[in-house]
Amino acid sequence: MSSYIDMMAKLGVSYLHQGGLISTKKLLKNMHIKNSHHVLDVGCGTGATAHYLNKKFGCNVIGIDISKDMIKKARKNENDKVKFLIGDATNLDFEDKKFDIILCESVLAYINKNKALKEFRRVLKNKGFFGSIEWTWLKESNEVIQEKTKIVLDLPVKILKKNEWESLYSLYFSNLKSEVFQYGMGNKYILKKLFSQGIDFFKIVYGGTTNPDIKESVSKVKRHFESYGDYIGYGIYICKK
Ligand SMILES: C[S@@+](CC[C@H](N)C(=O)[O-])C[C@H]1O[C@@H](n2cnc3c(N)ncnc32)[C@H](O)[C@@H]1O
Repeated sequence: MSSYIDMMAKLGVSYLHQGGLISTKKLLKNMHIKNSHHVLDVGCGTGATAHYLNKKFGCNVIGIDISKDMIKKARKNENDKVKFLIGDATNLDFEDKKFDIILCESVLAYINKNKALKEFRRVLKNKGFFGSIEWTWLKESNEVIQEKTKIVLDLPVKILKKNEWESLYSLYFSNLKSEVFQYGMGNKYILKKLFSQGIDFFKIVYGGTTNPDIKESVSKVKRHFESYGDYIGYGIYICKK
């Protein structure tokens, strides 16, 4: 996938979505997860959220990801209740209505959203919850900013605004709740973020590596957010089938 994600994975960042564990906790607060639940984490990356879910709620979790490397890393900590499989969000290999909860943290922005959402609706039980965290424009941008952002984050498709995500999710689900946050990676955000997101954020901002390619990727992303941090944020979206 994108070199931005590869860069974070190489740095050993465990939560590869915006806001890390802090935003995962915000997302999970309103999803009513029980220990009897079966949860699907789509695009699970290295499996940090799947393990957190099992530890916190005692639920069964399946994490799927299209990347063999991500699944290989995630499988290092597999156990009876947390399993990882290679799989494609747009073509899920599960029967209808299998899951009580579906999570998708920073994946939809990179793939065919409608195909994936149709699949999420199919495998989610009635009254089940779907929750996502996605890049979201915080204010009106222009083509130059959009194009630069696409390149820096290696996004193959365009980021949506909050109301665009909402309209999209409303085609498949109801009871939508959403909130947006600033991603903020420039200097004016750093201290606050270091306190709230700890070591993961430190790795993203300062690299913690001697590899010149990774160092360059880190500073490219940092420079971009210093200039356009007010425009780019992320949304936490929760809805129900
Ligand atoms: C930004 S990372 C987020 C990883 C994880 N959700 C997290 O927050 O740590 C996006 C992940 O989506 C995965 N991905 C991309 N396209 C996919 C697809 N079609 N089906 C499943 N996973 C996909 C990538 O391999 C990557 O691990």
